[in-house]
Amino acid sequence: MRLVHSVAELRQALAGEDRTALVPTMGNLHAGHIALVERAQTAGCPVVASIFVNPLQFGPGEDLQHYPRTLAADCAQLENAGCDIVFAPDVTEVYPEPQTFQVQPPLADELCGAFRPGHFAGVCTVVLKLFEMVRPRYAVFGKKDYQQLFLLKAMTRQFNLDIELLECETLRAEDDLALSSRNGYLSSAERAEAPRLYAELKRVADALRSGTSNFAELEAASTDRLKQHGWQVDYLSVRSRNTLLPPTAADQEWVVLAAARLGATRLIDNIETGRATAQKPWP
Ligand code: PAJ
Repeated sequence: MRLVHSVAELRQALAGEDRTALVPTMGNLHAGHIALVERAQTAGCPVVASIFVNPLQFGPGEDLQHYPRTLAADCAQLENAGCDIVFAPDVTEVYPEPQTFQVQPPLADELCGAFRPGHFAGVCTVVLKLFEMVRPRYAVFGKKDYQQLFLLKAMTRQFNLDIELLECETLRAEDDLALSSRNGYLSSAERAEAPRLYAELKRVADALRSGTSNFAELEAASTDRLKQHGWQVDYLSVRSRNTLLPPTAADQEWVVLAAARLGATRLIDNIETGRATAQKPWP
């Protein structure tokens, strides 16, 4: 495995390769990230994992300064997983000048967008830049960050990017808590409470699957239960999988998404439910 820090070194390392699979990450890797690397390997070409804590996607007062930076341990895990190249640029390599051009994605006021102004513009902008820096044939993303994946798929389609996006199911701990770099911020009491978020999403998903259609009632009941257990709920919402907007009567494919805080730690999770339709996923 090679560790490179600049686009020039990356080009050299990739000389002669016309296809690669990219796994973009912010590091502090866990088994969920490694599952993405394994998915990338199924494409049958060299795998590049990028590690870059992207300042553009953090708001003021968010955890940019404290975001765990664990490059040596990350490289050990990637090497173990059989990753070919780690691309770990520093901030000046990615942003040699102020990034005055940015991708403005849709759904900016929806779900996480409403609570993290500018976040998805930062994500889409850095991913577009990483795509051009690495020029991969495939790129792999997790469903854990559902709105992010939805927007990156739309960006790839709408800008005619010649990259196939591969998606991975959310990897969970034994008690169903979605693996996340931010789980490390939880106290032991908070860690014990954390699986309740997915339990509530599952409860809503099960009710929908069994025919209940009062979305608002289900959302309110789960939100209340979380609040009773000390959570501050940003949102818990049933959405159309095709649009990520509140479902219309025609929607039969839903996703239940939530973001909620335990103490200072903000957790997100989601679960898909409903029946399949042939609709196109325009945002
Ligand atoms: P990061 O949070 O490091 O996540 C990198 C990738 O790992 C994302 O595609 C995310 O959805 C996926 N992932 C995280 N936890 C997962 C889990 N438990 N199971 C499966 N996949 C999981 O997402 C980002 O970084 C950044 O926004 C990035 C796309 C790199 C742009 O900066």
